[in-house]
Amino acid sequence: MKTLFLKVDSKLPKGKTIKKAGEILLEGGLVAFPTETVYGLGANALLDESVENIFKAKGRPQDNPLIVHIWNKEQAFSLTQDISSSAKALMEAFWPGPLTLILKDKKKVSSKVTTGLSSLALRMPNNEVALALLKEANVPVAAPSANLSGRPSPTCALHVLEDLEGKVECILDGGACSIGLESTVIDATSNIPVVLRPGAITPWQIKEVAGEVWLDPSLENPKEEKIRPLSPGMKYRHYAPKAPLILLEGSQEKIKQEALKLVQASLREGKRVGIFCREENRQFYPKEARVVAIGKENELEIIAESLYKVLRIMDESKVDIIFAEGVEAKGLGLAVANRLKKASVKIINTF
Ligand code: TXA
Ligand code: MG
Repeated sequence: MKTLFLKVDSKLPKGKTIKKAGEILLEGGLVAFPTETVYGLGANALLDESVENIFKAKGRPQDNPLIVHIWNKEQAFSLTQDISSSAKALMEAFWPGPLTLILKDKKKVSSKVTTGLSSLALRMPNNEVALALLKEANVPVAAPSANLSGRPSPTCALHVLEDLEGKVECILDGGACSIGLESTVIDATSNIPVVLRPGAITPWQIKEVAGEVWLDPSLENPKEEKIRPLSPGMKYRHYAPKAPLILLEGSQEKIKQEALKLVQASLREGKRVGIFCREENRQFYPKEARVVAIGKENELEIIAESLYKVLRIMDESKVDIIFAEGVEAKGLGLAVANRLKKASVKIINTF
């Protein structure tokens, strides 16, 4: 299939570009579109076959349910039921925004979306192009991240093109994603919200609005298979770099010293070494290594925004082993640390 690549703000006036993409969606085609978190691969959630095509295009496991994207709150009330007061408060506080709420399903969307669960995940993205597209199509839109399963989520349209060219009807290029990590996923089916996947909206922010918050136990150790995750997607190792990634956690000074030793040892063994580090430490590591530095110690937003891009660069640079400096799991750092843990084969604690 030929993928139509539409750039917003290019040849066609913006309204016409969105209209075209909206038509493709409505008629059952797959349209990749920007959101503030990562690019999504959208399908009309009312059509079984279109939703099935998402799983085919991505190579996604059949039991991993999708998030439905909406552009107004009325849609949430027509698609789900028994919405708790805390869930309503969270919608008021954070929609549109990087927060997905899992609610009781009314079974209006295709059963392929929820993969047979009795709950439905909903999100209203805070991105002008996404909202315009959702409004244009005016149907609930199922959209996972627009990457091939097992690759880092795409944070710009070129990443989508790399993974899905020829597999989807349309890619809508609306520029780079401002956050760069997937939304916070909250189980809101009971009155106390439970964080299933950390994102830009932090547990502390949830607590401020809902009064209480719980963290799913699997977040403590995303690799621990024994804990049954509430969110089916959390059991998959989402992204594994081609080269093994060793994550170092602890104080920044100790991480740096330990990483240097390990890097030097691997270089002595003749390996090609990749390092993912803070801006401050760029010069600290040997020049023979492939050093990719992003964000200073306290610039978590920049680290989050560039993380997936850097992981793609590491894959292309054909290194044999990657060492990554960990971040403190506080605030947005909780989400960054969670994604780094999931990408790693080994975590070294330098405390
Ligand atoms: O930021 C985001 O959330 C992006 C953009 C495109 O909106 N989407 C995204 O979708 O990250 P995806 O499919 O990559 O991740 C969805 C996560 C998975 O972990 C899935 O298991 C979980 O949400 N999920 C979806 N529906 C669920 C449900 N009913 N119950 C529990 N978990 C659910
Ligand atoms: Mg994903």
